[in-house]
Amino acid sequence: MLTILVLGSAAGGGFPQWNCNCDGCRRARSGDPAAKPRTQSSLAISGGDGRWVLLNASPDLGHQIRANAALHPKDGIRHSPIAAAVLTNADIDHVAGLLTLRESQPFAIYATERVHSVLAANSVFRVVNPELVPRRAVALDRPYVPADADGVPLPFEIEAFAVPGKVALYLEDPAAAGFGSVAEDTVALRIRDLNSEAVFFYIPGCSAMPGWLADRLRGAPLVLFDGTTWTDDEMIRAGTGTKTGQRMGHMAMSGPEGSIAAFEGLGVRRKVFIHINNTNPALLDDSPERAAAEGAGWEIAQDGMEFTL
Ligand code: MLT
Ligand code: MN
Ligand code: ZN
Repeated sequence: MLTILVLGSAAGGGFPQWNCNCDGCRRARSGDPAAKPRTQSSLAISGGDGRWVLLNASPDLGHQIRANAALHPKDGIRHSPIAAAVLTNADIDHVAGLLTLRESQPFAIYATERVHSVLAANSVFRVVNPELVPRRAVALDRPYVPADADGVPLPFEIEAFAVPGKVALYLEDPAAAGFGSVAEDTVALRIRDLNSEAVFFYIPGCSAMPGWLADRLRGAPLVLFDGTTWTDDEMIRAGTGTKTGQRMGHMAMSGPEGSIAAFEGLGVRRKVFIHINNTNPALLDDSPERAAAEGAGWEIAQDGMEFTL
């Protein structure tokens, strides 16, 4: 059986975001039960053998581990059930948590060459000693079976494939086309449990739904998908920023070009939005946008949510 644990469901900044006074953040800060706080985007998966694989490592990882008993040390004076971390891009909200895993604890890091090159270029990540924590490069479109630091295979097959998106904010080259983004900057993960044959997709960042991607997702039992914004210009209208969702590499939920429309008719059994920005009104349990998303068959991820397949 494959267990998927939502460690964090918010986009970069979390909910509420430390410096944000938007309507949603204020409600979350005031303890409004319809505005549940959320940490930054990450999943943990297990095939039931006691070992867990992180899908992205958010800056909130320390808190997320404390909040989830499955990830607590079990055997011996130093131990962690975390066997590996798989990264979908080099965004701060997906890599900064690696620094939390720095106490000489073996696990393996899987990412594209491109994302590994970013870790290698930032010496602070050397604190996660590569001699204990092997960094393994994965090729696009080549399914692989991840293993823990000792090389003991985990019961999954993972395939990383490029989706439309953008290089991490701090790597943008203003002079280059697409800010210098390349295919390996933003990947989707297709994960298959080798025991149950269950399959799901994790796509926390995606800026468009080309026909080939829609075809790929058609009929999937579960897709966790980029839910950053409700409308493309909501951060500008909320006065919280100057960028559109598209400019940040994300497709909006609503509208004719949005993800809700794009998934229409694909027959995906369970559709879950994750990586949700604090300005997105669908985060609020009592909003019309939440009702519209749910009416279209979507769930809005929440920290601590669990799926079994
Ligand atoms: C994003 O998902 O667009 C990034 O995480 C934004 C950021 O770096 O804050
Ligand atoms: Mn992000
Ligand atoms: Zn806010």
